[in-house]
Amino acid sequence: MSKNILLLPGDGIGPEIVAEARKVLDRANDLYGLALAFDQAAVGGCSIDRCGVPLDDATLAKARAADAILMGAVGGPQWDGLERSLRPEKGLLKLRSELQLFANLRPAILYPQLAEASTLKAEVVAGLDILIVRELTGGIYFGEPRGIRTLESGEREGYNTYRYAEHEIERIGRNAFAMAMQRDRRLCSVDKANVLEATVLWREVMQRLAAEYPAVELSHMYVDNAAMQLVRAPKQFDVIVTGNMFGDILSDAAAMLTGSIGMLPSASLDKDRRGLYEPCHGSAPDIAGKGMANPLATILSAAMMLRYSLDLAPAAQAIEAAVGRVLDQGLRTADIYTAGCRKVSTAEMGDAVLAALE
Ligand code: IPM
Ligand code: MG
Repeated sequence: MSKNILLLPGDGIGPEIVAEARKVLDRANDLYGLALAFDQAAVGGCSIDRCGVPLDDATLAKARAADAILMGAVGGPQWDGLERSLRPEKGLLKLRSELQLFANLRPAILYPQLAEASTLKAEVVAGLDILIVRELTGGIYFGEPRGIRTLESGEREGYNTYRYAEHEIERIGRNAFAMAMQRDRRLCSVDKANVLEATVLWREVMQRLAAEYPAVELSHMYVDNAAMQLVRAPKQFDVIVTGNMFGDILSDAAAMLTGSIGMLPSASLDKDRRGLYEPCHGSAPDIAGKGMANPLATILSAAMMLRYSLDLAPAAQAIEAAVGRVLDQGLRTADIYTAGCRKVSTAEMGDAVLAALE
């Protein structure tokens, strides 16, 4: 039975990096007989240009029917002036929420070859292997009421609501504990329980779940301290679990530990592990079309897709190993370039991973 993958290249560098991931998947498909079948659709700004909305019903229906989704990135300055409900980002947020992709896995792994590319000292980041588990369909990103209103005084006020129901905390918690069980069995829950009630409940639920996973060592950290610890001594972490907004911020910080955000893949999963896979970085409009973007985060996202949603772990491993070999060969896109290496374009990097697959 074939496995249907929906490609959503999106905007900016999205099409370039998804094209490289597609090449790699096509080769893996041939080499290992994976029975992958591809379809493609528009999301974000390119969808707005085509049909007026960032995610139309036809694309949403395709996304629902697919076995897995591989996305590039959305957004760009040409759509920044649009009304909020029509912004490219809304397409992505709607996909996450409509498909109930509540569990966002963002692994930050430092390839030893890239220790020099990190802005942190090599000894601080060498051997880094962190997994951030971010809640993705709740919290302040989706909480109602929200909006910008005019007060009686005539002054305008912007407001959002940070809320988490117990079941939302519980399901992301269970996911994070399960991930920790497969790793070093240390889970750090990040909250702001000294100020925000929603995260007092978050902490309480995590504590309760801990009784079900006695093998996992649970700790708690306030988000401000977690941000500091991530850049001070990142190797103290194994798995971090946190809410939507804190996870957004901390995962960008974690990305830089690995040398470049261009290296960070992600998976967004529903309760049955169906999911959407995308690089953590954005659409980088400033370098779009220049052949400079790093396709590795997208290629590594494709590998995560094979592992988590399609049950093809050996092929996933082969792709990850190929990325390692290409880095061994000294090939670097501009974002991870250091002296003595060979600077390559987006397509050259994709081709090199292809060649290293055999
Ligand atoms: C991310 C991005 C998105 C987010 C944006 C594009 C809506 O920053 O995936 O981290 O905030 O979740
Ligand atoms: Mg982000």
